[in-house]
Parts: sequence; C-alpha cells; structure tokens
Amino acid sequence: MPVRIIVGLQWGDEGKGKMVDHLALDASAVARFSGGANAGHTVETPMGRYALHMLPSGVLRQGVAGMIGSGCVVDPLALLGEISDLENSGVTVADRLLVSGKVHLVHPAARVSEAFSETGADRKIGTTGRGIGPTYVEKFRRRGIRLEDISLPAQFSARCRERADRCAQEFGLEGTAREALVRDTEAFIEASLSMARYVGDVSYTISRILEENGTVIAEGAQGTLLDPDHGTYPYVTCGQCVSGAACTSLGFGPNRVGEVVGILKAYSTRVGEGPFPTEQANETGERIRKAGNEYGTTTGRPRRCGWSDGVLARYATRLNGCDWITLTLLDVLSGFEELQVCTRYELDPEQDLALFETGVRLGAHIPVYETLPGWKEDIRGETRWDALPPNARRYVETLERLAGAPIRAISTGPDRDHLIRRDN
Ligand code: IMP
Repeated sequence: MPVRIIVGLQWGDEGKGKMVDHLALDASAVARFSGGANAGHTVETPMGRYALHMLPSGVLRQGVAGMIGSGCVVDPLALLGEISDLENSGVTVADRLLVSGKVHLVHPAARVSEAFSETGADRKIGTTGRGIGPTYVEKFRRRGIRLEDISLPAQFSARCRERADRCAQEFGLEGTAREALVRDTEAFIEASLSMARYVGDVSYTISRILEENGTVIAEGAQGTLLDPDHGTYPYVTCGQCVSGAACTSLGFGPNRVGEVVGILKAYSTRVGEGPFPTEQANETGERIRKAGNEYGTTTGRPRRCGWSDGVLARYATRLNGCDWITLTLLDVLSGFEELQVCTRYELDPEQDLALFETGVRLGAHIPVYETLPGWKEDIRGETRWDALPPNARRYVETLERLAGAPIRAISTGPDRDHLIRRDN
C-alpha cells in the first residue's frame, strides 16, 4: 500500500483521528495535508486521551514519522505547545516531525482580522477563530509568510512586524488592542524562529519512503462538505478537504495513491453556520448530542446534530473516490426506538445531486427518510460484526448501500480496540 488517504465525508468531526491512529500501526509516516489548528482530532490510547490540533494523529505511535504538508497553515505557538504537551506526557515527537517549509504561518493578525469579519459581517460563517481563513487569503494574495522565510531571520522579523502594523491600521487598533497585537507578534516571531529544526522537504521525503516500499497515510482535516470547492460554500473552511488535495499539498502524483478511506459518522453533526438538511434542532438532536458528547474539540461549541444523510454520503464517497468507509460512533445510537436515514430529497430524485452540485442552496432541500428499527443493546466496545444486534447490522448495511462503498470498519467506542474490522 503506497499512500492511503483518509478523509472525512461530512462536516468534520467524523472521528478521523482514531482511524488514522489505528491504520498508523503499519505505516512509516502520517502526513497532514490540510487545515490548521482549527482541527481537533481526539485519540484515546492506553497512555491517555489526546486532542491533537496540528500534529498528525499517527504520531502517537512511536516510530511513525509525522509530517505537515504545504497545504496546511501552521500556528507555531499552537504547534510547539502541542509538541511540549505530548513530551510532558511521555510521547516524544520532536525527533520524528517534519514540517514543509512551504506551509503558511498563522500570524496573530489573522485572528484579529477573523474576529472583525465574524462580528461585523452580515453573513457570519461561525469560524473557529484560529486565523485559518485570513491566512489562506494572504497566501493567495501572494503576501503570506511561509515557514521557510525564517532562514533570513532579520527580514522575517521585519515582515512580521510590518504585517502587524498593516493590521493595526486596517482595523484601527489602538491602546491595549494594539499592544496585545505587538506582544503576540513578538511571541510569534520567537516561536517561528525556533522551528528551524522541523523544516524539511515533505514531498522528497515521501518519495524516499515510497521508494523503500514504506507506506504513508495522508490525513485530511475537516470534512468534504466543508471543502471550499465541493462543500456548502460559502459556509466552508479554507483548506481543501477532499482526497485530491493530498497530492497537491504533500507533493506526490495521483499514481502513488493506493486507496482512499472515507470516515463517516453514524449520524450527522455540523459546527457553525450553513445548510444541514437532516438537522434535528429538537429533543432528538439533543439526545444525540448528549450521547455522543458532541461538543467541539477546538472551541467547545455544542455541535448541531441530526440523522444520517445518504444523499450527501453518496456525494462525498464519489467525490473522494472512496475504496471503503469506516463508520464511526455507531454505539451512540444504541437505545433509539427508531432511526431515520435520509435516502433522497424532496425534489426529482434523479436530479437531487445535480441540483446540489450546481449550487442550489442545500437548505432548500427537504429530506425524505427511511425509518429503521433501532436496537436496545449496548454495543460499546463490540469487536465482532456477527455479535452486533441484527438491527444495527441492518442500519450499517443501509448506509453502505446509500453511500455506495463497502463499510469495512466500524468504530464502537473511543478506545483503540473498540473497532470491528469486517475485512479480516
Ligand atoms: P474555519 O476553518 O475556522 O475558517 O471555520 C470555517 C467553518 O468550518 C466553520 O463552520 C467551522 O465550524 C468549521 N470547521 C473548521 N474546522 C472544523 C473541524 O475540525 N471540525 C468541524 N468543523 C470545523
């Protein structure tokens, strides 16, 4: 298996972290290809529970190299903080981490700019406040600050201070607000300059690993429906979330891809604004939120919850070219009398996807549900497909049919071994 790409099939928070950690067992390296510290990947291990924002989830496996590709945006203070938190709990990553010199750095001005655009806007996106959008904007305006720029420290520091001045002027910052930006900029400069030891050529390193018959996991962040091209624009993030982006961010050709694995949650959630056809803004949604502890890993915000959406699952599976799917958080649905799954929208069924793709506001679609019987048994921690209650198996098979790819793994709880593999 040369490169295995792992992507989320919904609006993020599908449980990618746990699956990456699982598949990293036999990988040489895990490389993050998108996003920044807006992501929150939770992994439970025998050593404890880790919430990673910037580091690839596979680094919790000793001996697996971690990489961050050029399509990511890096907040140096957040990254260094995460490295030292891990080291304090006994996981050393510093000697096996490589960050592309081409990543763009999240300057503190980006967070200031985001705060202004979210509060004053007539169209709030509900962003994570991590400076992600404005950093990508600077990148494509060709004014961004890349990690490789630290090789000329004096020029780098001058540019960072100039960026802070420009931001203060643009938003009329004065007094303590301006002082805070200046202070944060100095801390940002110091942290960035201390990252020299991690800078390297991710594309070249991956090609070397593959030449030596190693395997690489390309780890996506967020989910397909938050992708700026293929998601529910404009309610999207700015990093590319679909499988194709792994090639551009990490610098390998499509012919190196062995397989694409999509991660699908057994129900749907979304954080922030934007269309969500199967949302249950009612007691059902509340019940799912409680059972699944659906609060943001990065921001702590309660997530919007709802039923599974087979139309969007099929869309995301096709778009990413998923070879197979891991279904996560199935245990959360135990105890529901009945479960609903959206099989189509109330429009001409032949045209549903075409309409979605050509930009008709997804919010205008009315989901049509198939009702399935639930199961009472607590399935948390189950590891055998045959031991699942028949109604749970029927639910999985229904999603499989709707998504259009085999569900080969099912996560039944947060721990590493709470997993059913149907392929072995
Ligand atoms: P941004 O990525 O902070 O710019 O936020 C843009 C949109 O993506 C908002 O709706 C966020 O809630 C959402 N988002 C960003 N990162 C994540 C994530 O890791 N999980 C779920 N939603 C996310």
